[in-house]
Amino acid sequence: MSGAALPLAGTVPAVPAQAKAASALPDAFGPQSMDLRVNGQHHRFALDSRTTLLDALREHVGLTGTKKGCDHGQCGACTVHVGGRRVLSCLTLATMVGDRPVTTIEGLAKGMEGLHPMQQAFIDKDALQCGYYTPGQIMSAVACVHEGHADNPADIREYMSGNLCRCAAYPNIVAAIEQARHAMKGA
Ligand code: FES
Repeated sequence: MSGAALPLAGTVPAVPAQAKAASALPDAFGPQSMDLRVNGQHHRFALDSRTTLLDALREHVGLTGTKKGCDHGQCGACTVHVGGRRVLSCLTLATMVGDRPVTTIEGLAKGMEGLHPMQQAFIDKDALQCGYYTPGQIMSAVACVHEGHADNPADIREYMSGNLCRCAAYPNIVAAIEQARHAMKGA
């Protein structure tokens, strides 16, 4: 008989040394306990360490306002704030967030105070169009103002360039940011 070696009857196949070594290691990708503080609420999970912040928010916290567009860091639909700074949640592992607070579009409006000025400005200037990319646009727009990058239309276009809109509502988005910038100065 030729070909691949078969175990002889009555013998136990040898376990390769590599497999033995791997089984002795902790499962790096198994569920790991982690905490997230999202929109002021604390959440504790046991998640695969490869879980992105985007999937943690949508699939485990149940906040589906943050959208999955490309899932590759190219469209900005998944933009949220971590520690007050905008991040692409599809490129951020949930385990990397640590104790920094996460804010999503659901946490932008402050209870009875009504919509955030940026949300209101997007409505006023009809900057929504189909709306799918709007949460990411709004989160990025708020950060853009806080960063001091919204003083003129050219800056707004530059610092919002990571957020794509298939409906091409860009002129309205720029107008909305200019409106909200004034309102946010008093906020
Ligand atoms: S879904 Fe994250 S950048 Fe597109």
